[in-house]
Amino acid sequence: MEKKQKRSSFSGGIGFVMAAAGSAVGLGNIWRFPYLAAKDGGGVFLLVYVILAVTFGFTLLTTEIAIGRKTRQGPLTAYSRIHKKFGFIGFLGFLVPVIILPYYCAIGGWVFKYLSLYVTNTQDIAVADEYFSSYITGFPEPVIWMLIYFAITAVIIILGVNKGIERYSKILMPILVVMVIVIAVFSMTLSYTDADGVTRTGLEGLGHYFIPDFSGMTIQDFLIVVMDAMGQLFFSISVAMGIMVAYGSYMPKETNMQKSVNHIEIFDTGIALLAGMMIIPAVFVFAGLDGMSAGPGLIFVSLPKVFDAMGIAGKVLGPLFFIVLAFAAITSSISIMEAIVSSLMDKFHWSRLKSSLIVCVYAAIMGVIVCLGYNYLYFEQALPNGTVGQILDVMDFLSNNWLMPLVGLLTSILIGWVVKPDMIIEEVTQGKVRFKRKGLYIVMIKFVVPILLFILLLQSFGLF
Ligand code: PFF
Repeated sequence: MEKKQKRSSFSGGIGFVMAAAGSAVGLGNIWRFPYLAAKDGGGVFLLVYVILAVTFGFTLLTTEIAIGRKTRQGPLTAYSRIHKKFGFIGFLGFLVPVIILPYYCAIGGWVFKYLSLYVTNTQDIAVADEYFSSYITGFPEPVIWMLIYFAITAVIIILGVNKGIERYSKILMPILVVMVIVIAVFSMTLSYTDADGVTRTGLEGLGHYFIPDFSGMTIQDFLIVVMDAMGQLFFSISVAMGIMVAYGSYMPKETNMQKSVNHIEIFDTGIALLAGMMIIPAVFVFAGLDGMSAGPGLIFVSLPKVFDAMGIAGKVLGPLFFIVLAFAAITSSISIMEAIVSSLMDKFHWSRLKSSLIVCVYAAIMGVIVCLGYNYLYFEQALPNGTVGQILDVMDFLSNNWLMPLVGLLTSILIGWVVKPDMIIEEVTQGKVRFKRKGLYIVMIKFVVPILLFILLLQSFGLF
């Protein structure tokens, strides 16, 4: 029998979607998606991502929310409620936000730094190509901004006012969408003639983004694209890390889960696609195809050029954009930190304050180490996705390309084969809701998810 417990609930479908969207929409959409799309050749990445979102994203989101709503437990205990032997999935999922939090704050710090340039009208220095790399390799500024960013996240969690903050998402998210659209439209109108006399236009750049070009692509290259897109999908919709289980545990039984899943997916993927439309044509115009592989610094290098090219409008849009981006980032880092803090509270029965302070010490130390990865602790590590990374990239790879696929794989084995999909289907159809994609769900959770994730894991471990 399920233990009866008091558990606060979201006020309904919209409350749930807003909270989940606050967690899902963040730096993953605006910073991470465009640079991966650019690195992996635009159109092919986009196509693969969208296919994965409507198949894998739908399956895993549904599964995790249903597990949370059925068990009314957070991730650390939910999986063992489903099956005694599978409790460790919750622990693996718990490790994901532990790894992500420090480096998310390091990037949040970059956003704050750029915001400070724009609000003090000193953004002109950021237009130069080398500005971003000279900034992040400097010391101690990136550390200070990271700590400021983290302190804001931590104070919100310690005071327990995150619900209040997430309410502002309702106003700020639509503003973010409008701004991304305006900037995207402007990016398409750009044109630039480089030193060799070659003129490139934003529309050509848009073509690279939307039209898949498979020419010269080997199977190995394609698998790298699938691996990148899969890791990005997990990161972006916040699955395979226990968060959606926790959110599901607060979802009222009468909420239509399928609708909520669709809304999260459409919103999250929509913003990512638009962010790509804003960044990729601009990168193509100013830096050509070669500039596309710039990696994690991509938006910080290319956006200042776009705002600069906008003239006066850029002076208004620039600071506004970074304010809203900072807000979107904070609502995500709150959910990352909350996932760790609430798990510690559940597991060890510590107070909110004690759990938060322990996470603070950990995240501050690790955050400093991540920042020093571009400076005193610099190294070059080749990663199986063909990039060379520093501490931030290694941690990112570890969580997105190893741990999350592993959590997804184990979840699909648990649900597809051990307890059987009926358990989830029953939860989705509570209140006589018809599960429209039931057939797809069963095929995905039993066959496609485990097989593809297994192949991708081998690939992520560098085995082929
Ligand atoms: N989904 C968030 C984003 O796209 O920025 C990032 C994120 C949120 C990662 C919550 C991890 C997490 F636990």
